[in-house]
Amino acid sequence: MKTQKPSRGRERRRTAYAAVSRDRNLCALGQADFAGQAISVGAARAWADGLLAGHVADEVREDAVLLLSELVTNSIVHSDSGRKPGGLVTVFLAAGDGVAHCEVIDDGSAASAPVIREACPEDGSGRGLWMVNVMAEAWGVHHDDEAGNAVWFRIGGQPTSTHLMPLSSPCAGGAA
Ligand SMILES: Nc1ncnc2c1ncn2[C@@H]1O[C@H](COP(=O)(O)OP(=O)(O)O)[C@@H](O)[C@H]1O
Ligand SMILES: [Mg+2]
Repeated sequence: MKTQKPSRGRERRRTAYAAVSRDRNLCALGQADFAGQAISVGAARAWADGLLAGHVADEVREDAVLLLSELVTNSIVHSDSGRKPGGLVTVFLAAGDGVAHCEVIDDGSAASAPVIREACPEDGSGRGLWMVNVMAEAWGVHHDDEAGNAVWFRIGGQPTSTHLMPLSSPCAGGAA
């Protein structure tokens, strides 16, 4: 486990992991806070890549890092973590049985929860959560009034037939 300065906020931010890890033989690898700024996306990616190395297969690690960077970007763009001075994005990683568990926690509220949507072909954005939905074995959103919003996913195991979430706002334009 990566050594971090003690922080009450960080302790509170562990709640989502505790909630979703009961059914898995997961071992916590580390947790880190990143500034709510665009430059943190690459830093989080490099940190996660190094931490997952040796714990999961290379292709699982590469996919996990890709999805993680989408979630960190979302936290910076769509939550108070990126809007308010001093905002932080917390990333938590665990692994076990070839599976990577990744969690990105931000200062979002219950009213600003992530919503999966289907992008039209011409849209330049709107595919981050769609990718998570398609590539992850399982994923979800956990809101805690004190900790904020945690978006988590697991990748590397067998997908379940029920893991795909319905689209809340299908593409209206349609492909030509
Ligand atoms: N961490 C988050 N906090 C609040 N809203 C979010 C967060 N992540 C995603 N969303 C919402 O879900 C939508 C879909 O996210 P995504 O699929 O990554 O597309 P994009 O980020 O390109 O809009 C976003 O447009 C945003 O409204
Ligand atoms: Mg996005």
